[in-house]
Parts: sequence; structure tokens; C-alpha cells
Amino acid sequence: MPVTQAREIAPAVRLEKVRYAIRDLASVADEVAKQGHKILPLNIGDPITFDFQTPPHLIEAVYQAMRDGKNGYAPSSGVNEALLAIRGEAARKGITTVQDVFITTGVSETVDICLTALLNPGDNLLTPCPDYPLYSAVLAKLDIGLNAYYLNEEDGWQPDLEDIKRKITPRTRGIVLINPNNPTGSVATRKMLEQIAELARHHNLVIFADEIYDKLIIDDDPHVAMAAVAPDVPVITFGGLSKNYLAPGWRIGWGIASGEASGIKPYLEGVNKLLRSRLCANHPEQYAIKVALEGPQDHLLEVKRKLRSRRDLTMEWCAETPRVSCVAPRGAFYAYPSLDIPEGDDVFVTELIRQKYVMVVHGSGFGQRPGTKHFRIVFLPDEKTLTSAYSAIGDFLRERYR
Ligand SMILES: Cc1ncc(COP(=O)(O)O)c(C=O)c1O
Repeated sequence: MPVTQAREIAPAVRLEKVRYAIRDLASVADEVAKQGHKILPLNIGDPITFDFQTPPHLIEAVYQAMRDGKNGYAPSSGVNEALLAIRGEAARKGITTVQDVFITTGVSETVDICLTALLNPGDNLLTPCPDYPLYSAVLAKLDIGLNAYYLNEEDGWQPDLEDIKRKITPRTRGIVLINPNNPTGSVATRKMLEQIAELARHHNLVIFADEIYDKLIIDDDPHVAMAAVAPDVPVITFGGLSKNYLAPGWRIGWGIASGEASGIKPYLEGVNKLLRSRLCANHPEQYAIKVALEGPQDHLLEVKRKLRSRRDLTMEWCAETPRVSCVAPRGAFYAYPSLDIPEGDDVFVTELIRQKYVMVVHGSGFGQRPGTKHFRIVFLPDEKTLTSAYSAIGDFLRERYR
């Protein structure tokens, strides 16, 4: 007799806190696409979807590694030549107290492993608001409540230091700083980094410095690495190939652990235990790391030229459009305009997809100060696509809100 599944299988209750607005909007987009409309995607930070290509010498290195038989499991921390190249990169970033380096399946896995290795039930971690939703998703998975600190729009989206101070509790174990920031495009000042480092020293916090966009500083002002201004503090610096090297599908990220050796050692043993338990990161792709970090960097000139032109176009549109205002992004490829509208930004975004087929992400999907409304633009598309998208958003604002 055939056996049928009698009862529904419910997902874990803690998943109710997992939100990933960027991909959750996909169902609305599918609905619109099924009606035969072409969506203008200003929502996903994948350069390869647009006119950017992975540098050929990286592709060649991976191809060569596959042909050379690097197709088995790799060491759990990563292959030696790549680890050495990352240590070289750390030195160029001014990080002098490196205690460990490890390669992961994208920065996404670095975040997962580093947070899991640190947090016990009842602990908390300071995360930025607005934030890149991966952090809150991993915390939800660990059943750890959110302790979000605000970024200050009036201060160019710098972290709100007073809010951070207010939110530190005896169970606060660390702080996340995304710099350059997703979704605001802000770049933290050296003074801000020093002040956050001082708080970390005082309260024994680990700093998670997500610097995945550190080579995408649009106006060429210097990027200051958190670990360079805080050599004594436990810092895990996140980096990878997804953004700076235009290879997000390869899923290669890394962590650089620095700080005073004896303090950070027990924690790093926990990190390595988790690294071993998941075997390794993608193997052949790791052979692109050395050529990426030590080879020609010419692609960055072209990428930054495009980003500068597209950022400027975005800012011109924001300046001339009623109900929209925006702090100019200085790094990465995101703008986070504020909206003056009489309804929620989630409704704005959903209706914009349905009526004008333009896809952006609502501010409430990233978190924002109560009473404020925003949306995130990915300004990776070419100027022609951006111009039609902005013209459609402008029409939508005029027609809907008069
Ligand atoms: C701030 C930030 N951190 C981490 C990631 C994830 O990067 P990866 O592709 O290396 O997993 C992203 C991706 O958009 C990001 O914006």
C-alpha cells in the first residue's frame, strides 16, 4: 500500500526572523515577467549581470588549476599559495598583527562561521541598521536577537557612536562594521574607526570588519582598514573575489584574523573547528586568489570609471526629483535615497515593479530609523538602462503621489 505524508512539515520557528528582502521580491518580479514585461533590475549587486567581466587572467588560473588536477578537497583553511597571497594583501592594507587567515565559500560563509564560533545563547552582536541582511539571517539561525545600531543619514551614514554606546550590554560580544557600506555606499572615516576600536578595547568586543568592497572607492580617497588602526584589538577582516574581482559566482571569500595573539587564540580554535567540519571551500577557484591580488589591477580603473559616471547620473536624478533625496555614495555600487511618500516603502517598491517594471529594494528590508523611508538602488547597469529606469521611477512618483 502506498504511504502518504499525513502531516505538514513545519520549518524551524527561528526562521520566522530570517528576511532577505533582495531575493524575496523575486516572486513579484516573476508575476510581472509572466505577463511578458521586461524587468529593469536595479536590485541585485552582481556586476556580471551587467557590462562587467571577470578578468581573463583569473579565469585562466582556475582553468589551469582544474587541468592540473586541483579537483579534490582542499585543506580546510585553504590552499597555501592563496593564504600567502592574502597575508601579502593584509600587509598592504597595513594589518600588522595577523594571527590566522582562512578561505571560505564566499564572505557569506566567513560570516556564518565567525558568528557561529563566537555567540552563545543570550549573547548579542551589534549590527548596523540599515544592514546587509546576511547578518540578521545568520543571527536568526543562531537564535540570537538583533542588537542593531543606527547609521546616521545626517552624518553621511557614519555609524551613530552614541547609539552604539547605549546598546552595549554585558552580553555584547562583538560589532559588525561594513565599510564601504551596503546599502548606503558610505565609507567610514579614520576617526570613526578609531572611536569604534576604542569601544571594542574597553568592552572586550570582536570587530567584524566587512571590507568586501575595499577596492571600489569611487573617488579614489584612501580606504582605511579597521585592523590597521586597531592592531591590538581582535578583528576579523572579510574580503573576497565577488566584488573587487568581479567573480561572485565562484564563491570565494576569506577572513583575516588579527589582534593581540593570546586574546584571540581560543576563539580562532573554534573558527578552525568549524572550518574543518565543512571540509573546504571550492578548490580550483582558490587558484585565482594569488593572481587576483598580485597580478594586474587594470580592471579596477575601468570599473571605477563606470561606477563614477553611474553614481553621478544617479545623484543628478535624485537632486532633480521631487520626494527623493540622497547622500552621495563614496564606495561600492549602491545608493540609498530617502523617500518622502505617504505610504510604506515596501508598497512603493512592489507597485513600482508591477506598474513600471523597475526593481529596487525597500528600505524596510534593510532596517531603518522609525518614521523614515528609503529604497536601495544598485547603480551597476549602463547609463542608458539607468536613465530609462530613473525616468520610469520619476513618472511613477508623479502619477502616484501628485
Ligand atoms: C556587505 C556584504 N558582505 C558580504 C556579501 C556576500 O559576499 P560573498 O559573495 O563573498 O558571499 C555581500 C554581497 O552582496 C555584501 O554586500
